[in-house]
Amino acid sequence: MDKNTRIEELLRLREKARQGGGPERIARQHAKGKLTARERIDLLLDPGSFRELDMFVTHRTTDFGLDQQKYLGDGVVTGYGTIDGRLVYVFSQDFTVFGGSLGEAHAQKIVKILDMAMKNGAPVIGINDSGGARIQEGVISLGGYADIFLRNTLASGVIPQISLVMGPSAGGAVYSPAITDFIIMVKNTSYMFITGPEVVKAVTHEEVSFEELGGAWVHATKSGVAHFAAENEEDAIFTARTLLSYLPQNNLDDPPARETDDDPLRMDPDLDQIIPDNPKEPYDMKEVIRRIVDDGIFFEVHEHFARNIIVGFAHLGGQSVGIVANQPAVLAGVLDIDASVKAARFVRFCDAFNIPVVTFVDVPGFMPGVAQEHGGIIRHGAKLLYAYAEATVPKVTVITRKAYGGAYDVMSSKHLRGDINLAWPSAEIAVMGPEGAVNIIFRRQLAQAEDPEAERARLVAEYRAKFANPYIAAARGFIDDIILPRETRPRLINALDMLRNKRDSNPPKKHGNIPL
Ligand code: HXC
Repeated sequence: MDKNTRIEELLRLREKARQGGGPERIARQHAKGKLTARERIDLLLDPGSFRELDMFVTHRTTDFGLDQQKYLGDGVVTGYGTIDGRLVYVFSQDFTVFGGSLGEAHAQKIVKILDMAMKNGAPVIGINDSGGARIQEGVISLGGYADIFLRNTLASGVIPQISLVMGPSAGGAVYSPAITDFIIMVKNTSYMFITGPEVVKAVTHEEVSFEELGGAWVHATKSGVAHFAAENEEDAIFTARTLLSYLPQNNLDDPPARETDDDPLRMDPDLDQIIPDNPKEPYDMKEVIRRIVDDGIFFEVHEHFARNIIVGFAHLGGQSVGIVANQPAVLAGVLDIDASVKAARFVRFCDAFNIPVVTFVDVPGFMPGVAQEHGGIIRHGAKLLYAYAEATVPKVTVITRKAYGGAYDVMSSKHLRGDINLAWPSAEIAVMGPEGAVNIIFRRQLAQAEDPEAERARLVAEYRAKFANPYIAAARGFIDDIILPRETRPRLINALDMLRNKRDSNPPKKHGNIPL
């Protein structure tokens, strides 16, 4: 074969690989409102930056006539490229080839990408669109999954891992995305479940649609499996790119700084008025966050799940920070099971990746009730406590209003190695709220009072004046300073600057035993 023929052959093979499962299957994919594996990569990465690996890999199976069907790349497009100029590794399952199902060769390609990402310290983005284990390859494909699960686990806390679920993800296959740090799903075209509606019907007699059982909205609101529910694939990909802009390349790296014209000394007098006079009245903590962070940009994670706590990323003085905040506008900001788990996982992510944690506290306590107790709020609430206690990244806390009971301790208190703990003058830090406290400690006095209601009001006012303020905590040094709300931005930026070279560590151990 002469040189030119060889060149032509390579060009022909490249073109063939780009065709995936062929034009008909591509048309079917488009008709479902889905992009192809390569179109997704093109949208995700900086133009022209993608370098494909293993385009010529094919399966080695002969069973069920599979040797008559070989596709270059074996149903997954893998490689590396850049997002905003920063290296990332990508795999993108191609539903047009064997339904994106995972066999031995397909798995080996993903394993190679995960190994390279680990070795070179860069994030991995997995685009999942697959019928699961390739049925014709039997146990070999199960082995392939386990090889991936192992890499996902070893990579956890070393490099950021983001999963885009853009089609089916069923059976044990869901566990690769589940181990990764963030899951982004697409409304109406993606679903995740252990067993589909048919099996559910046979086993539990429940009738449920794909979307209701494992669609993006269900996982973003109810199960908490998905961190984001995107409107469409472009939106999902944009979300992944934005998310990465807050993250470092790996656990030895710092997150990238972002240029801003927002003055680090900017004060916001409106913040002085944001806490309602009535302590039972809600306000929107997201408004507080937006007024404080750079350019008012807050990138919320898990927005629709456990809305009584807020987590997400922002910049302060150009530095990437993770924000955790109670939301008084939802369930009065109470800590329940879902809120504890949501925030605990976020704090651990930030700690693993050198992202300082800024916490805004307005919490009436842990949620009472039989459902919560029997659901295990003790062990789930302990996760958040544990996560804050073990975190060694800079931790800066602002108590805006209530910090009651165990929730005061949990929410990044000084006692859990909070570095700088600030309070607004409206802060109320005590064992419990005035009403509950008065009912318990003055029960006899109230029973004997001529006018119990008047007496209760008097005692509540007395308790509030005495305990529901930040000064007792500040007198002990549990609060480092009491600040004007308007000063919050400059004070936070100053604290984060001061903590830039913070060094802290935990005792040597194999790993802790977080109450799972
Ligand atoms: C081999 C598969 C496949 C699979 C789909 N295909 N799933 N090939 N192994 N698991 C092929 C089909 O034969 C078809 O080939 C093409 O992909 C597209 O599939 P369709 O059924 O035509 O597509 P659609 O109607 O959109 O339905 C998609 C689907 C369905 C819902 C995913 O294909 C399906 O139910 N597949 C089986 C899912 C499953 O049970 N997987 C095993 C899960 S258990 P042609 O040639 O016609 O294009 C699992 C265990 C993992 O994954 C364990 C890890 C520990």
